[in-house]
Amino acid sequence: MTFEGIEGVGKSTQVALAAEWLRGRGLDVLTTREPGGTRLAEELRRLLLDCDHEHIAGTTELLLLFAARASHVAERIVPALERGQWVLCDRFTDATRAYQGGGRGLPAALIEQLAAIAHPGLSPDLTVLLDAPPELALARARIRSSHPDRFEQEDLGFFARVRAEYLAIAAREPRRLRTVDATAGVEAVTRAVAAVLGALLAASGR
Ligand SMILES: Nc1ncnc2c1ncn2[C@@H]1O[C@H](COP(=O)(O)OP(=O)(O)OP(=O)(O)O)[C@@H](O)[C@H]1O
Ligand SMILES: [Mg+2]
Repeated sequence: MTFEGIEGVGKSTQVALAAEWLRGRGLDVLTTREPGGTRLAEELRRLLLDCDHEHIAGTTELLLLFAARASHVAERIVPALERGQWVLCDRFTDATRAYQGGGRGLPAALIEQLAAIAHPGLSPDLTVLLDAPPELALARARIRSSHPDRFEQEDLGFFARVRAEYLAIAAREPRRLRTVDATAGVEAVTRAVAAVLGALLAASGR
């Protein structure tokens, strides 16, 4: 299961609350995040978010993201799934589709080729898309930290394209992606996410 959306929309908050909710129902849950999740991938995350680079070309960024993802999938996600754990991941390949595809304009076919290499046959059972206008989400992210990372330094136009791509993916795959209005307060968003999780549990017979 993955959580997606632009910066500051509330992914990390909701991943933690969803894990608590599922554990309360007796499920064995692993929470993790992207880019990251293994030592190598966390190192790549640090490099990707660092603002001190002269410039990172779009394809360089894309390859680093998928290198991190390949490590994360092989070393952490697949072993957890094989142990029978529920994996909750803060961002996954939809983020690459939205940011590097929608935001940076890299070809969708290239992203899908790399996804097929990094996680052949593996895609989330369910994706919660937290949706809010960039102005609102970025304001939340700025309250949380006063040091914007390399992505947070992008302009509103960039985040508008990223959001539009996320919504386009949700329209294409309505069974996998569930869009939740993230403009409401934490409690209301948490209730909406719990409703989605409850439906998933009911469908899986738990
Ligand atoms: N529904 C909400 N209403 C108001 N504030 C919220 C809501 N959800 C989260 N927040 C707050 O907004 C900030 C950003 O939330 P959070 O870190 O969960 O977002 P995120 O999507 O993980 O961001 P990033 O992409 O930068 O990691 C935090 O300070 C959090 O407490
Ligand atoms: Mg976060």
